Amino acid sequence: MDVEIVELALDHFSTVTQLCGQALDLPEDAAEAPAVVDVLWPRAAVDRTVVVLGGYRNGELVGVLIGSTSGGNGTLGHVDLVAVDPAHRRRGVGRALLAYAEERFAGLGAVEVLLAGNPPHYAWPGVDVRYTPAVCAALALGYTQDRTAWNMTADLSSDGSPALRPTAPAERRLAGQGVTVRRAGPADLPALTAFARSTFGGTWDTELAGSVGRDRAGCHLAERDGEVLGFAAWGSSRPSWFGPMGTAPAAEGSGIGAVLLRRCLADQRAAGVTAAQIGWVGPVRFYSGSADARIERVFFLYRKTLADR
Ligand SMILES: CC(C)(COP(=O)(O)OP(=O)(O)OC[C@H]1O[C@@H](n2cnc3c(N)ncnc32)[C@H](O)[C@@H]1OP(=O)(O)O)[C@@H](O)C(=O)NCCC(=O)NCCS
Repeated sequence: MDVEIVELALDHFSTVTQLCGQALDLPEDAAEAPAVVDVLWPRAAVDRTVVVLGGYRNGELVGVLIGSTSGGNGTLGHVDLVAVDPAHRRRGVGRALLAYAEERFAGLGAVEVLLAGNPPHYAWPGVDVRYTPAVCAALALGYTQDRTAWNMTADLSSDGSPALRPTAPAERRLAGQGVTVRRAGPADLPALTAFARSTFGGTWDTELAGSVGRDRAGCHLAERDGEVLGFAAWGSSRPSWFGPMGTAPAAEGSGIGAVLLRRCLADQRAAGVTAAQIGWVGPVRFYSGSADARIERVFFLYRKTLADR
């Protein structure tokens, strides 16, 4: 085979980003290629093993795979991204990248490989069904469809969008109940992470840290007497992506969640986002009712037991 697979160091970041910009067929992913590669590679490498592979033909980088491990002691390998230059497809580059990644994961102690996001550093939950060649490749290479996940899209293309309905009236009503809603700053992080951990069992520390006070990201919180009642964040994985969010069970139904959500969506609109992705949803009725969001991106998640190779 005329494909050479090479493990890439971070000095290839911009080449990899450029290739992803050309090889991710969906415009919304191609446009955010730098953010996608950044969340999957430099940021993820802080707390997990990240494997970055380049596929070369005649000395030219034509394919890339970014993978990572999860499952406590690394028993799961995740393929977070695989992309091949459109001009070099159907010549075994994807197959060679995945075969190398499987061997590499096995060497790290993995027993299974997932074509699925590895929160908190993920670019999508799995393979968007519109990446049909990837769906075909997954099936051809012995992967089995596992779960389905979906995002919801909130239209931010005009000031009149229902997703941007003013929050002031609801905030006045909440203020009458002693609840304050405001933007979170770095000083709020300890209280926010403590709230997320104790209320939701928390794996959201990294996403909160990736949202609060960062460029093209943000977080809003609700509190009463200094006690956090809820939060909503955006931008930790990608600028167009909203989440995570959470409201204390005791405060559910008070309207806090809708206010926090729409404050984030307003930030995203101000940052130039015209369609926010509410990632890996959750409560469809809440997002439909609060922001007129609709289910749009659908992802298949795949798995393969390494013993079956
Ligand atoms: C998915 C992708 C990486 C495959 O790369 P590739 O180098 O073309 O894949 P390969 O040539 O190794 O194909 C392996 C097998 O997958 C199947 N396959 C791949 N593309 C296919 C297609 N368009 N139609 C049908 N089967 C296909 C075939 O069985 C193929 O084997 P064969 O050519 O011997 O029949 C490439 O299409 C791509 O970059 N797509 C856009 C990015 C993407 O979807 N990434 C996944 C989400 S992160």
